[in-house]
Amino acid sequence: MWNLWFWFCLALCTADHFRDEAERIMSQTPLIDGHNDLPWQILTRFNGQLQNPKANLTQLEGTHTNIPKLKAGFVGGQFWSAYVPCNTQNKDAVKRTLEQIDLIHRMCQTYPETFLCATSSSNIRQAFQQKKVASLIGVEGGHSIDSSLGVLRTMYHLGMRYMTLTHSCNVPWADNWLVDRGDDNPQSHGISKFGEDVIKEMNRLGIMIDLAHVSEATMKAVLTLSQAPVIFSHSSAYQLCHHKRNVPDNILQLVNETRSLVMVNFYNEYVSCQNVATLSQVADHLDYIKKVAGPGAVGFGGDYDGVDNVPTGLQDVSTYPDLIAELLRRNWTETEVKDALAYNLLRVFEEVEKVSDHNALPNENFIQLSELEGSCRTSYGYPNHSYQHRPGVLPVVLALPLLYLWLL
Ligand SMILES: *[C@@H]1O[C@H](CO)[C@@H](O)[C@H](O)[C@H]1NC(C)=O
Ligand SMILES: *[C@@H]1O[C@H](CO)[C@@H](O)[C@H](O)[C@H]1NC(C)=O
Ligand SMILES: *[C@@H]1O[C@H](CO)[C@@H](O)[C@H](O)[C@H]1NC(C)=O
Ligand SMILES: *[C@@H]1O[C@H](CO)[C@@H](O)[C@H](O)[C@H]1NC(C)=O
Ligand SMILES: [Zn+2]
Repeated sequence: MWNLWFWFCLALCTADHFRDEAERIMSQTPLIDGHNDLPWQILTRFNGQLQNPKANLTQLEGTHTNIPKLKAGFVGGQFWSAYVPCNTQNKDAVKRTLEQIDLIHRMCQTYPETFLCATSSSNIRQAFQQKKVASLIGVEGGHSIDSSLGVLRTMYHLGMRYMTLTHSCNVPWADNWLVDRGDDNPQSHGISKFGEDVIKEMNRLGIMIDLAHVSEATMKAVLTLSQAPVIFSHSSAYQLCHHKRNVPDNILQLVNETRSLVMVNFYNEYVSCQNVATLSQVADHLDYIKKVAGPGAVGFGGDYDGVDNVPTGLQDVSTYPDLIAELLRRNWTETEVKDALAYNLLRVFEEVEKVSDHNALPNENFIQLSELEGSCRTSYGYPNHSYQHRPGVLPVVLALPLLYLWLL
């Protein structure tokens, strides 16, 4: 009888033990997540109006993320995605990105007891101490800067601390992952000459380079060129699920050599290559990246509120402690867990800050006009380009005397 009780308790009590351990560890070292699309939800549901009573983040429903869920999940740092879709490219991408950056600032202003807008690694540590969620801005897709180093610098001043080089479309200076699947044409075959200027300027400013969504050739080019480690803000392991959004082994090798970081994406399609997945399969990706790239190279980038399905057991941001419990069950040491939770990202961020050099002069190169598309673009400043007069005005001015004569 006692024997039976012993085994019964061993099964149950140890299950609870790992969950308790997870909570103890996370209350000391909360989680920093690489990618959350709540701002996109606020845009599409409420046209960006946070003061709409239904948008109240203390009780927002129908999303993976709200304030109680963040607290229950021990989230202490979040890169909020300033995402605008690829169909804004060559249209209103810059304006819409600025609006999403503004929305993230308004989140911090509206809920100052919860969010602390952060622009440095030391800000994140301050937020930890104050038990707030350090709120950082990641711009998802190079189309958001419209091929302008001036816009890149301005977004840095507005708080952008990572930029994903592409979303799921090429930009004039870098190729996206669809190229590897044969669903898009290679254009820069990695990055173009101007793309190299973008990378160097990001290094100079201290903006983390995010390689989620880019093609493998882009990954290789940037891992070789960047002076600072890079991140994959929301990508998983290709070896476990052959999806081109994931990171292949040869790149994981470069991630290890450059002290870079892969923050694992929970989207079922990238976890299991099916529309269903489990918490245990996400833990497999974490285990795998830890094994191949090292315990310094693994983190979390759930992609919550950016995807339409997530694994069983990880249904929203409150469930992170269950995933940490699973890692402890798999014999991850406390140090390894804490590194994955926060210290790997903080290390990369600090190295990026160290490489940055605000005394060096800004790069004044510009992309060639011929490399750009879009009919609403003007060409001021480009050498030897003849400007067109404002259309409409001149013909009207010429027509007026004729109209007068005709009326006579
Ligand atoms: C959100 O709801 C809480 C609780 O009802 C309330 O105290 C708070 O003022 C509301 N915040 C906003 C921004 O509407
Ligand atoms: C790189 O891999 C080696 C060997 O697995 C490991 O000891 C080291 O910690 C790894 N580096 C990082 C940054 O993870
Ligand atoms: C964890 O470690 C224990 C004790 O060393 C061992 O029995 C168990 O098989 C390990 N579990 C895994 C998943 O490696
Ligand atoms: C612009 O025109 C000048 C004079 O015609 C010429 O010397 C120069 O090379 C041109 N520059 C470019 C960029 O075409
Ligand atoms: Zn994404």
